[in-house]
Amino acid sequence: MDQYSDKFVPYVLTFGPNVEYLHLGHDFGQKLHVLHVEDEENAEFGRILNYNNQLAFGGPKDMGMPMWVMLDCGILPTAMIGYMLHSDDVDDDTWEFLELEDDYEGWVPISEYCAALSVEPGCVSGFSLHSHIAGQGLATRTKALALAVLGAKTQVGVTQFNNPAIRVHARFGPMQIQIHRPAIHTHPQDSFVYRLTLPPVETLVDIARGGNIFGVEERPHGVKWSFDPSSEQDHLRLATHLSRGGKAWIVSPGWRGTNEGCEIDVILG
Ligand SMILES: CC(C)(COP(=O)(O)OP(=O)(O)OC[C@H]1O[C@@H](n2cnc3c(N)ncnc32)[C@H](O)[C@@H]1OP(=O)(O)O)[C@@H](O)C(=O)NCCC(=O)NCCS
Repeated sequence: MDQYSDKFVPYVLTFGPNVEYLHLGHDFGQKLHVLHVEDEENAEFGRILNYNNQLAFGGPKDMGMPMWVMLDCGILPTAMIGYMLHSDDVDDDTWEFLELEDDYEGWVPISEYCAALSVEPGCVSGFSLHSHIAGQGLATRTKALALAVLGAKTQVGVTQFNNPAIRVHARFGPMQIQIHRPAIHTHPQDSFVYRLTLPPVETLVDIARGGNIFGVEERPHGVKWSFDPSSEQDHLRLATHLSRGGKAWIVSPGWRGTNEGCEIDVILG
């Protein structure tokens, strides 16, 4: 798989009128391809991207993105951003996993991040980070690429306590927990809302190029705590701390798998 990383090509799938507002001029190391949703020749790419999203998020009955949501929320007001491979460079296992047509020729999306623009200037609400090539820093590079292209300064997002993607998010800075177990969510008991103050754009571009996938080292002051999301006592401690006006951040590396489940690196302030 190592031969792949220099073949990852960055893409932005968006609506033509958005192009002038996106930050497309950074040097991402490879030519950035801008794909217009109104251009019918990108229809198959969009279909594969949606299928890949469904694969990553448990299909339409779980958190897979319906096609209309992808257009209305993911593309028209913002952009879906990630890396793709040329079909000639996709190995047989990945080809089969993504259920590509035997005779397909062209670009194959292999990762994606999508962020809605917030009413707060400079803030984006990130959703649907996925990567189908593990162990090469692809999700980390994808998130950095998207945040740089969107010109984001801060980011809010939702993830699940048991999701190793926390390791990716925590590379962008301390994740301040803003809502513990949001009542309005598909998986309320397992989820949390976080906020990141993002590193400067030069750092994001460097991460996107694959130069520094370990991100920022910053640590807020406070009490270190290894949070076990399978423990209701730990949830009570976190909820009580937040309800009394305390702060809590998940800090890098952020998440570790254990025999019983996982542990999360938290600082309480
Ligand atoms: C989670 C996901 C985005 C990771 O993609 P990736 O390209 O492998 O991520 P990266 O290589 O950038 O970094 C992943 C980090 O998490 C770790 N990681 C990823 N998947 C893991 C797993 N299943 N178990 C343990 N660690 C895992 C990697 O080891 C790496 O950390 P390290 O370099 O410190 O060892 C990908 O597996 C995915 O698409 N999952 C399904 C969709 C999803 O849940 N998205 C997150 C929404 S918040």
